[in-house]
Amino acid sequence: MTIAGRLVLVTGASSGIGAATARAVARRGGRVLLLARRQSVLEEVANAIRSSGGEARVYGVDLADASAVADTVRSLERDVGVPDVLVNNAGAGRWLWMEETSPEEAVQMMASPYFGAFNITRAILPAMLRRRSGHIVNITSPAGFVVWPGAVAYSVARWAMRGFSEALRAELRGTGVRVTLFTSGLVSSPYFAHNPGGEDRVPGIARLFRTLTPDEVAAAIVRAVERQPREVIIPPLLKLTIRVHRVIPGPVEWAVLKTSAARTATASRQPGSST
Ligand SMILES: NC(=O)c1ccc[n+]([C@@H]2O[C@H](COP(=O)([O-])OP(=O)(O)OC[C@H]3O[C@@H](n4cnc5c(N)ncnc54)[C@H](OP(=O)(O)O)[C@@H]3O)[C@@H](O)[C@H]2O)c1
Repeated sequence: MTIAGRLVLVTGASSGIGAATARAVARRGGRVLLLARRQSVLEEVANAIRSSGGEARVYGVDLADASAVADTVRSLERDVGVPDVLVNNAGAGRWLWMEETSPEEAVQMMASPYFGAFNITRAILPAMLRRRSGHIVNITSPAGFVVWPGAVAYSVARWAMRGFSEALRAELRGTGVRVTLFTSGLVSSPYFAHNPGGEDRVPGIARLFRTLTPDEVAAAIVRAVERQPREVIIPPLLKLTIRVHRVIPGPVEWAVLKTSAARTATASRQPGSST
């Protein structure tokens, strides 16, 4: 798909990968719709796009709120029409051991990314189906394939994004609406600023994979929009590791667990706290 002139909706566009994707799409001539909760921050990203000659519109919404999402989709369809591409990128969540995770926070972690992606896809899909074209790109993490200790609710929410992509692709077969599952390794975004102590729990094996910049990930998302593959995994060594894990899981799981944070007497402390 050629991006120039296409309407591309990016969730989580106020920061990191989403903001970089919005900029990259606009550079290719795409018309960008930016969604996230912090409208003023979205406006800053959109203003930068407009001042470089791009087209951008901003919609502030909490994707966990299904009826607010439905209202937002109605207004954006009224304003500019049906998006050609939906990039489900918004996501949050701390890396916590099971006993550190309150039931409320476990629900929140499912809300963003998974229920947010569900809500907006559900709101946009009928129009894509009527038009018999569209592309949904779901962003997830390697935790959606291979888990490590100390991030239970985070991992489950990333598996949900993978399951959602597979289930949606099966349902949309023959409709003209395509689904891509996009997985990136570590990215130097503000994500870990909201996830104190998280970086200490990155398994040592992940240090073998190069940390990517948001702009590098955005460039790969743009390629995925142009080519519409069923799956993208970057960087290449992570792709190889995930492919090997599918065939022979044991050695990869051993290497991940061997290089992960060990459970200690202090595991039940909140990460980042000094007490
Ligand atoms: N950073 C990494 O190493 C990495 C690696 C692989 C995959 N990922 C995935 O990539 C995605 C983006 O991560 P990032 O690194 O760019 O993180 P980030 O800089 O923290 O950005 C997260 C974005 O999600 C938005 N968001 C969160 N909850 C939302 C909600 N309920 N409703 C609407 N928007 C919401 C935030 O906007 P507001 O706060 O303004 O709402 C923000 O724009 C996430 O799904 C993450 O799991 C990240």
